[in-house]
Amino acid sequence: MDSLLIKGGVPLHGEVQISGAKNAVLPIMAATLLTAEPCVIHRVPDLSDVKFMGKILNSLGAEVSFEGDTLTVCARRIKGHGDYELIRKMRGSICILGPLLARLRKAEVSQPGGCVIGTRPIDLHLKGLRALGAKIEIEAGYIRARAARLAGTEIFLGGRAGPTVLGTANIMTAAVLAEGVTIIESAACEPEVMDLAQFLNAMGAKIQGAGSPTITITGVKELHGAEHEVIPDRIEAATFALAAAVTGGEITIHGAKPEHLNAVIDKLREAGVKLERRGAALLVKRGSRLQPVDVTTLPYAGFPTDVQAQMMTLMCLTPGISIITERIFESRFSHVAELGRLGADISIEGPSAIVKGGKRLSGAPVMASDLRASAALVLAGLAAKGTTQVNRIYHLDRGYEKIDDKLRKLGGRIERIKET
Ligand code: EPZ
Repeated sequence: MDSLLIKGGVPLHGEVQISGAKNAVLPIMAATLLTAEPCVIHRVPDLSDVKFMGKILNSLGAEVSFEGDTLTVCARRIKGHGDYELIRKMRGSICILGPLLARLRKAEVSQPGGCVIGTRPIDLHLKGLRALGAKIEIEAGYIRARAARLAGTEIFLGGRAGPTVLGTANIMTAAVLAEGVTIIESAACEPEVMDLAQFLNAMGAKIQGAGSPTITITGVKELHGAEHEVIPDRIEAATFALAAAVTGGEITIHGAKPEHLNAVIDKLREAGVKLERRGAALLVKRGSRLQPVDVTTLPYAGFPTDVQAQMMTLMCLTPGISIITERIFESRFSHVAELGRLGADISIEGPSAIVKGGKRLSGAPVMASDLRASAALVLAGLAAKGTTQVNRIYHLDRGYEKIDDKLRKLGGRIERIKET
């Protein structure tokens, strides 16, 4: 397994281009199953999760081809069940359930397991699909769904931690080919949900209200091929903004949509980081003095859970006490112990981490446990004195396109150690 060797203490300077959004492209790739015609997707990030989803679509019978950052999928003839192991391994693949059920009126997919950040049940996905008329059995690790017909209805999709992003995607992609009107209440409002709705409407769907808690879908008989450019990755953009802040550097971020980052920008400004819009770009630099801030993760447009770990790294470097509360996933603090190896002082009280910041971090070997935790460790390594080795960076490659190249271009002393 590859690892990263990082010599810290260098303020990052320069420009970075943000890639397409992982969490937008995965449900969009699944939605290509809704039509027999070719779909062309642009600004597709080169990530292992994307390649994985490509293999899953292929295992269902779709033709999948990548050319640079353009992906073409043609699901002319598909079957309702794909490779068990492939689907089981990537949680995001659950979003093939809705499109398969809508197109074939049947679907058989492996049940997604939990992951280090939480149990991650799919009860809301199944509730919504059953409300549309699907009969669903869970057996032998499989979700088996069948529907003689899908009929529009009203579905409340709010759960223990609020709305569900991929649950909203699954119901939306099932309802586009259902008879009549579906209204999703307490829908997720994430920009990735809006991007999916835009793609579906380009395929001939009739969706209104995406981006708000109430989405109305008027079913149509069939959908056609479409071309679409994926939105930029707001989590990657936030991660580079924090890279400027933790290293005391100055980075111009290109290709991001600042309007997707309001909660992050607001919190960083509160912490004393300077963020300025320069045309379409965002200039980020550390202000004179960092301030401790309290952060609570919330559904969009609140502070994203996918930036919680990276924000914690900044608070480790900030003199004073800050409290970081995770409200979305029940066990998303696996980075705390590893930041502790670098000398951070963090204690956990229930859903909150209490960070006593201000101590200089010092490099050490650390272990990545999930995608965003690994990003937090890379940021910590860039700020720490000495050398940090981040192991198991396959987690990082799932969601960040060539992050070590991008950081090197900004002056980061970072090297990928390939497994021999
Ligand atoms: C998406 O996951 C993202 N993944 C996650 O990003 C992100 O953290 C999450 O949304 C929240 O923003 C992709 O888009 C591929 P949820 P998703 O369903 O849709 C509970 C990353 O780092 N819940 O919105 O799976 C659930 O347990 C990843 O890029 C139920 O209880 O998340 C969680 O506590 C990590 N029942 C909360 O809702 C359900 O049926 C939100 O989960 C579904 C979810």
